[in-house]
Amino acid sequence: EQDPAKITLQSADSKGTRVRVVGRVHRERKQKDLIFLTLRDGYGLMQCVLSGSLAKTYDAITLTRETAMELLGEMKELPAGAHAPLNRELQVDFFRIIGKAVGGDDAITNRVAEKGDAQTLLDNRHLLLRGEKASAVLLVRDAIESAFHQTYREHRCRKVSPPALVQTQVEGGATLFKFDYYGEQAYLTQSSQLYLETCLPSLGDVYCIEKSFRAEKSLTRRHLSEYTHIEAELDFITFDDLLTHLEAVMCRVIDLVLADPTTARLITDLNPGFAAPARPFLRMRYADAIAWLVEHEIVNDEGAPHSFGDDIAEAAERRMTDIIGRPIFLTHFPTEIKAFYMQRAADDPRVTESVDCLMPGVGEIVGGSMRMWDYAELMDAYKREGIAPEPYYWYTDQRRYGSTPHGGYGLGLERFLAWLCGLHTVREACLYPRYMGRCKP
Ligand code: 4AD
Ligand code: MG
Repeated sequence: EQDPAKITLQSADSKGTRVRVVGRVHRERKQKDLIFLTLRDGYGLMQCVLSGSLAKTYDAITLTRETAMELLGEMKELPAGAHAPLNRELQVDFFRIIGKAVGGDDAITNRVAEKGDAQTLLDNRHLLLRGEKASAVLLVRDAIESAFHQTYREHRCRKVSPPALVQTQVEGGATLFKFDYYGEQAYLTQSSQLYLETCLPSLGDVYCIEKSFRAEKSLTRRHLSEYTHIEAELDFITFDDLLTHLEAVMCRVIDLVLADPTTARLITDLNPGFAAPARPFLRMRYADAIAWLVEHEIVNDEGAPHSFGDDIAEAAERRMTDIIGRPIFLTHFPTEIKAFYMQRAADDPRVTESVDCLMPGVGEIVGGSMRMWDYAELMDAYKREGIAPEPYYWYTDQRRYGSTPHGGYGLGLERFLAWLCGLHTVREACLYPRYMGRCKP
């Protein structure tokens, strides 16, 4: 007796043994008196062949794709180059239907998926997930999250889990989701950063992988209303330490996933051109980026040449990364266009010790900075930004009880995946994407 829970299509023995497998019919093909099924169980695919009376029975009950079944038979190795997963085949001598599918499975095949319109496909994402591309992205996503956890352990960062329901903003009022919290005003968190900062004195360096929420009123390829935010905060560091750490973490994560043959193959299938980025990443100051944009005649959103103080908008940023063609650490953004908490550069108070990491094809995937650590400076910053300091008392207190130079960053997991897997939009990197106009399934 085999334990069905333990045998997967991947782990089933290849040679001459009788095995019992369970899965769903991924594809089916008839050839003379034979029926070839490709079975899928989430761990792999297996070719199963039905012949003789079994094929006739199967035909008679008109089985449909996605039907869940149990199959027993002998495993046979096929010659190298046979068009079957792992060059093997189950020669079925018994089958049992566990859950019959209704058919009409057009929406779930990869081939048809490419033809369907985007909204229909998203409405049917629960079925589309069964397709090869969608599931490959989710498998890579799982591997990436696990690699981040391992990498942070290696860097002696402790994992914490900050609240999602908050009463402070981090990245500006315009993208806050507000709601009524037992009669008080509250928000869905935009970033766990402020909470991570409060952990430094007790836990040392910390990180979290949590959801962040942004009421983004624009529909772009890289904006979601709910996304997975990988954030870390490091104590007693310099801005240079922050950049070195960030580069080390990102490269280690890439190395880890590429070192696993299964994940590496999924990535190459999704994004044939992918190569791990060379270190060190290009470092460019914001002021130099503005000069570069002017030189390359890339205009701002008003159609005018860029000048110091402009936000580098998505289109310009993407063109820049595509032309340069490698990761860029864009640093030292002007104070006016950055968040209230960012530390000023010692050598130029007009700019902050801030960094955006830009990747070809996506643009910004990480935002980080050193944090303002002087009490009086932070109080001024609240005033300058028109932020009432009272709800931030717990954040401000960090500057009163043993303040230190510290900094951190947030990385958007879906943007990281879009870059790694060569996806057209971050929506493809989510289990169920959330963006303006979509909150289902
Ligand atoms: O640049 P952001 O807004 O920075 C922060 O939230 C900092 N407080 C993080 C920190 O220092 N701990 O966001 C960080 C990253 C962006 O670079 C981007 O990858 C992602 O979060 N991100 C989004 N991803 C998808 N949809 C959105 N609407 C996003 N907004 C930000
Ligand atoms: Mg940013």
